[in-house]
Amino acid sequence: MAGSDRRPAVGVVLASLLLLAVGGGVGLLPAAEGLGVNWGTLASHPLPPRAVVQMLQDNGIKKVKLFDADAGTMEELAGSGVEVMVAIPNNLLDLLTDYAAARDWVHANVSSYSFDGGVDIKYVAVGNEPFLSSFNGTFLNVTFPALQNIQRALDDAGHGDAIKATVPLNADVYNSPKDNPVPSAGRFRSDIADLMMEIVQFMNQTGAPFTVNIYPFLSLYDNDDFPLDFAFFDGNGSPVVDNGIRYTNVFDANFDTLVSALSSAGVGSLPIVVGEVGWPTDGHKHARADYAERFYAGLLRKLAANAGTPLRPNQYVEVYLFSLVDEDAKSVAPGNFERHWGILRYDGQPKPDELSV
Ligand SMILES: *[C@@H]1O[C@H](CO)[C@@H](O)[C@H](O)[C@H]1NC(C)=O
Ligand SMILES: *[C@@H]1O[C@H](CO)[C@@H](O)[C@H](O)[C@H]1NC(C)=O
Ligand SMILES: *[C@@H]1O[C@H](CO)[C@@H](O)[C@H](O)[C@H]1NC(C)=O
Ligand SMILES: *[C@@H]1O[C@H](CO)[C@@H](O)[C@H](O)[C@H]1NC(C)=O
Repeated sequence: MAGSDRRPAVGVVLASLLLLAVGGGVGLLPAAEGLGVNWGTLASHPLPPRAVVQMLQDNGIKKVKLFDADAGTMEELAGSGVEVMVAIPNNLLDLLTDYAAARDWVHANVSSYSFDGGVDIKYVAVGNEPFLSSFNGTFLNVTFPALQNIQRALDDAGHGDAIKATVPLNADVYNSPKDNPVPSAGRFRSDIADLMMEIVQFMNQTGAPFTVNIYPFLSLYDNDDFPLDFAFFDGNGSPVVDNGIRYTNVFDANFDTLVSALSSAGVGSLPIVVGEVGWPTDGHKHARADYAERFYAGLLRKLAANAGTPLRPNQYVEVYLFSLVDEDAKSVAPGNFERHWGILRYDGQPKPDELSV
């Protein structure tokens, strides 16, 4: 191929899209506040925290979501101006059903960074997708008590107004019936409906947002008949029509299925944070750099315009892209794409265009 035909490296394209979204002028600034990234560290050679924090700052990214509260990471985030969601891994949830343990966790991992010039912690993620069907119910009995204890410990330590405990949940905690697969019919999964009702009522009391991970790529991966164009944001293909609302992309349809589930649980205006959304660049026929570009371009355009969704129109949506960098030590049990979610390679460099083949 002639040099002039070469596509720019996806990392560069995405980096410039990020700049466009966060720094592109007054009109786009509200999107800047919404845009965050996930920082995972399941890598054989994790990038030094200092380099990652520098990268966030250089790209104007003001929010980051972690999967732990690693001391080295937290120390670098101190004074950075980056807002942080720290996290409690699933294997600690059982321990945190004891209030004294939750108090100790908050003391060690939150209070110790809460000083002038410290870490700007906004959320504590209690577990990571603990109700995934593939966990076989392992965390069903411990997640809600841990959530309650962590929020109470935050309150008791005087952080409760500024820091909210939430639970990042996979979109498989809600669905609409097979015979009426439209967003307005959204309900929480029947096996956990009572539990979800308690959790969202609690969040409504504490002022915490519902955190959900939405993956249009997985809709395609899971279903060979899924219409490709519906995974993206360019409005092609045949829409899903629901009470006169035309859904032209699965992200909106999925988000509004959650809005309907929340409404049916009596908390229709509970704030929603999208904890993870992204597109992998390798490891499956649909995991391609050009699709990732198409997906992110549409998503970032939508966010910059504060378009919201049909059930929550013209709203700012707080979103954390998944993910900042590839993680070459992730389990490939869900699929070979798992190590390729990064906007950047595992070494922090832009992805070469060869990946888009
Ligand atoms: C958080 O606090 C607990 C103390 O309860 C400690 O054992 C743990 O290592 C700390 N860090 C993380 C990342 O959880
Ligand atoms: C869940 O159950 C399946 C089938 O019994 C098993 O293969 C899988 O390892 C279990 N997963 C966990 C996390 O326990
Ligand atoms: C959760 O609690 C229920 C009811 O007490 C019990 O039947 C179930 O075995 C528990 N599940 C786990 C994974 O501990
Ligand atoms: C809880 O939900 C009710 C009904 O939607 C709402 O009026 C109230 O403001 C919510 N509470 C909080 C803390 O947001």
